[in-house]
Formats: sequence, C-alpha cells, structure tokens
Amino acid sequence: MCGIVGFAGKKEALPILLDGLERLEYRGYDSAGVAVVSLDGDLQVKKSKGRLSVLREILDTQSPLSGNIGIGHTRWATHGEPNDTNAHPHVGQEGKIAVVHNGIIENYLEIKKSLIRKGIVFSSDTDTEVIVQLLEYYYRKKSNLMDAVYAVLNRIKGAYAMGILCSDNPGQMIAARKDAPLLIGYGEDGNYIASDVTALLAHTRTVTYMEDDEVAVITADDVQIFDRDRFQLEKEKHEIEWDVSAAEKGGYAHFMLKEIMEQPEAVRKTISPRLADGEIVLEELRDAKELMKNISRIYIVACGSAYHVGMVGKYALEKMMHIPVEACLASEFRYSEPILGESSLVIIISQSGETLDSMAALREAKRRGSKVLSIVNVMGSSIARESDYVLYTWAGPEIAVATTKAYTTQMVLLLMFGVYLAKQLDRMEQEEYMAVTRGLQELPEKISIVLSDIDHYQKAASRYFNHNSVFYIGRNLDYALGLEGSLKLKEISYIHSESYAAGELKHGTISLIEHGTLVVALATYEPLVEKSLSNIVEVKSRGAEVIAMTTELTASLIGSQASEMFVIPKTHSLLQSVLGVIPLQLFAYYVALNRGCDIDKPRNLAKSVTVE
Ligand code: AGP
Ligand code: GLU
Repeated sequence: MCGIVGFAGKKEALPILLDGLERLEYRGYDSAGVAVVSLDGDLQVKKSKGRLSVLREILDTQSPLSGNIGIGHTRWATHGEPNDTNAHPHVGQEGKIAVVHNGIIENYLEIKKSLIRKGIVFSSDTDTEVIVQLLEYYYRKKSNLMDAVYAVLNRIKGAYAMGILCSDNPGQMIAARKDAPLLIGYGEDGNYIASDVTALLAHTRTVTYMEDDEVAVITADDVQIFDRDRFQLEKEKHEIEWDVSAAEKGGYAHFMLKEIMEQPEAVRKTISPRLADGEIVLEELRDAKELMKNISRIYIVACGSAYHVGMVGKYALEKMMHIPVEACLASEFRYSEPILGESSLVIIISQSGETLDSMAALREAKRRGSKVLSIVNVMGSSIARESDYVLYTWAGPEIAVATTKAYTTQMVLLLMFGVYLAKQLDRMEQEEYMAVTRGLQELPEKISIVLSDIDHYQKAASRYFNHNSVFYIGRNLDYALGLEGSLKLKEISYIHSESYAAGELKHGTISLIEHGTLVVALATYEPLVEKSLSNIVEVKSRGAEVIAMTTELTASLIGSQASEMFVIPKTHSLLQSVLGVIPLQLFAYYVALNRGCDIDKPRNLAKSVTVE
C-alpha cells in the first residue's frame, strides 16, 4: 500500500531511490529498503524497520550500493509484522531476483505451501515473498525472465504494483500492476517507476500511467509496455502540472499547516475556471441535461473525509435538486448489493483517486449499469481514468496524511455541481442561484478571514489539549461538519472523539456527558441555530464545557452559553461548512502540536489506502 520508486539510467541509482522514497514518506510506512544491481550483475539489498533515516544511517556506515539501476520501497505492513526481514525488497532463495510490491497477494498461502513442498525455503512472513520465490522457480524452468513474469502474474490473485530486478539482466527493470497505482517517468538521464508522481517531480514531469495487467520493461534508454497477452502497446504520455515546490514544506513546520493555509488559493483555483460572468460552467459534464435525464437517485460513495464531503452533499444536493441523495461508505457500499442501474448516478469522491474501496465501488456501479462521475484531485489516477465524467479539484499535491485542502475543494466542487444541475433542471430559483454563485465568488476571501484568526485557535487548543474525550455535535450540515472535525482531531492528536447529530444525543450518548466533558457544538447552519442552542444548553446543564462555533450573525445568541467561541463570517447557508471546517482543522492541528504528535505522519495511517 505504500511506496515504490525505481530507476534505470546513466547515474548512480541509490541517491535517486532514497530521494524518491523520502518524497513518499508522507504516505505512512513502517520500514524501508532498496536494491541495486551493478552492471556485472551484483544484486545488493539493504532494508530495515523504521524510518528512512534508519536505512540511511545503515547505508552511511557501509560501502555504498553501486549501480545504475535499482528499486526502493517503503512498506506499510499487511502480512507479517514490521521488521527488518519482512521489509522489502524481497530476494528469492537463489539471490537472483529482487521484488518490491505494494498491495496484497490473496492466494499467497496456497502458493507458499506448494513452493515449500518443492523445497523452497521462505525467510519472511510476507505475502510478497511468494512473488519472488515463484519468479525464481519459473525462471529456473523457463530461463526467460519475461516468461517467468507472465507465469507468475497468471498464478497470483490480488492487488499489486511491483518492481523487479534480476542479476542476470542487469540493465533492465520490470514493472507490473493490477489494482494498485504505478506510473512510469521519462527523464533525461534515465527512466523511472513510482507508485506516486510526487516521487518523480524532481526528475521529470513526463509520465505514463500503467493500467491493470500491463507489464513494462524499462532500461536507461527505452520503455516498452505490454498488455496481458504480451502485445506491445503505444501508450500516451502525460505532462504533470504540479511542480516540485508544491510538494515541499516551504518554511512551514508541517505540511498540514501549509496545506491549511493554502486553502484560499486551492478553492480559488477550483472555482474560478468554472465561474464565468456569474454563471457556473461545468464543461466536463458535456450535456448535463442528457446525463440527468433518467436519474432518480444519486449515490455519493467515498471513504473517510471524502465520505464526510458526501454527507455534506447529501444534505445540500437534496435541498437543491429535490432528488434522493445517499452518502455511502465505499467499504460498505460494494458489499451491500446497492440498488443501482441506469436511473442512478454514482459520484465517487477521492483525493488520491487510488483508494481501493472507492475504486471497487466505482467498478460495481459500472457493472450494474450506472453512470459514474468522480471528483478527484490527482490527475490521471485510476478512479479518474475509469469514470464516465471527472471533475478535478485543483488543490495541488496534498502531502499531510490528514486531508485539509483536498476536503474543502471537494466540498466546493460537489456544491457547484449541485447548484449547476439544479439550475439546468430548473429546480432552483434564479435569485437563490445568484446568491449561491455570489457566495462562491467570495469564498476564497472569507477563508482568508477565518485563517487570519489563527492565533485564536492556537490559544483555544492550548487551553483544551489535555482533554481525553471530545464530542462534536451539530444538526444537518453541522452534523456532517462535526464528522470531519472529529476525524481530524482523532487522526492527528489520538484523542478519543465522537461526532453526534445533536438531536440524537438524548437517545443515549448524553449519559456520557459529565462535569468537564468537552463538547464542540457547531451552530453555523442558520435555519437550525436555535435548535442547536437547545442542545448546547442540554449538555451545559450536565456539566459540559462547550466550545461553540457559529457565524457573526448569531454569535451573541450562542455566546451566552459557551466557554469558548469560534466565530466565522456568514456566507450562503449551503456553503457555510466550507468556512466552518477551517477552525476545526486549526484546532486539531494545534491540539496535536501541544501533545507532541507526529502531525504529518500519524501512527498506523497511510495517505492513500490501496488495500482493502
Ligand atoms: C482524512 O484525513 C484521511 N486521511 C482519510 O480519511 C481519507 O480522506 C480517505 O482515506 C480517503 O482518501 P481519498 O480521498 O484519497 O480516497
Ligand atoms: N502486503 C505486502 C507486505 O505486507 C506489501 C505491503 C505494502 O503495500 O507496503 O509486505
């Protein structure tokens, strides 16, 4: 699930591999390793548990691995504990072939047993090792590496992106993919593979995305890509627009803070190309009326924060479009036998465009005859490529595991989509339409206003960071917002936190409220502010300490009941959550900072979840 980098070129491979792996560190991992082949076929491997810095230290104390071709890996363990032996690259029993792999080989036990019966000795607990042992086994029988690769790919089941080196073919690197991201980069001094484009930005921005079941043979001067039947393919090359500085910290203490501060710009870039003379224009949808002709239901399917955007969408799109909208967790959706067909539109939301659960939901939707529209940040990612329609967020690379700017841009784009269609289908009054589009235009500026209050959120965090349990409550759009606020806090500060629909508290959870319990009460959604006030009074009279967030319009009403106030500018009520999330991000960030947490790389988490 984690990171792969490979290089075949005219320079020493090791520094390139280490630099690439460093740029993938943000994805979360537990061990790292590299393999390099010298021209005379000396296959050298170093790997170790822990951070990349540990591997660097080991490499510094020894004579450097030398060679112009190599593969590197950061592992996020799925099979076998994170230790030195289970780290990748894995090498076959004969020491000829090395493999790095992202994903899971589902039938590894069966293959492992059969290889053990043939006398092959395994050294790790990983599923990955079966790939390399099987490769050496077939290579012995067939004496041709590509024949062996295809034989292995026909035998294994599951998800993989892999890089392969063989000491008998020292000028060549082989790559293969199925259900896990892998791309090829074309540089001046050689060619690359990577699981994520950010690993390559320092060397090249010209890439080709590998598709499922493709195999690539990469040398210093040449890249050949073959399909599952071994026919050579002519693949399109893409130019990546992101530059390398966008994926660097630029003076900020953490990527998360940098990305929070980038939100006015990210939102502006997402909105402005789609707003002309006060009108929303979504050229990507081609004929929107045609798309919606027979649609009687919308499913928004996603994971984590992207699902929380879906929850906002459920409330907002139903209001605007007057059709049923369901927000579904992708991991549940695919197994719940959803009632899909030509009359359903499925919207997949994903920053990375590679989340396996969301990808599986997309395929299930298509298999059942539904049209799929995706909202994606990473251009050319798998979800974008397989969707019928794609709306890109222009957030730029997001490095911190906890999403911020991708979340806000996803929300803005989903809301724009809703407003656009409501207008096209004559379900929104002109006056309302103009009010929302005005609101959209003003959003970047208003986000900047919220951000200018950063000291306030920092102070609040230093006052409350010692709490061990926090409740977020809100109604309707504020409930959806609370889900995200609570997740942000949990992810990076490790404080237990729950988000509740405020009206639901008294059906059980209110029994947990006692003297000093911290409650973050969200009351930004204007039509329900008074109802939210009643809920604040309920928890307060049971001893809760309340941080309340509301708009400048209702600050005095809510302020009387809260120990701490987060006041945000007023915008159109359907857009209010875009502003509301900013204080919650900053609060979570500073709480985590006060608690000394590893903010950009929280424990156990990975940026992009490409396993089930
Ligand atoms: C959010 O902070 C998380 N890191 C996580 O919930 C994330 O939103 C989720 O895994 C979905 O990722 P995606 O947008 O890349 O599909
Ligand atoms: N399943 C493999 C392992 O546990 C690969 C994990 C990964 O994708 O990092 O080693």
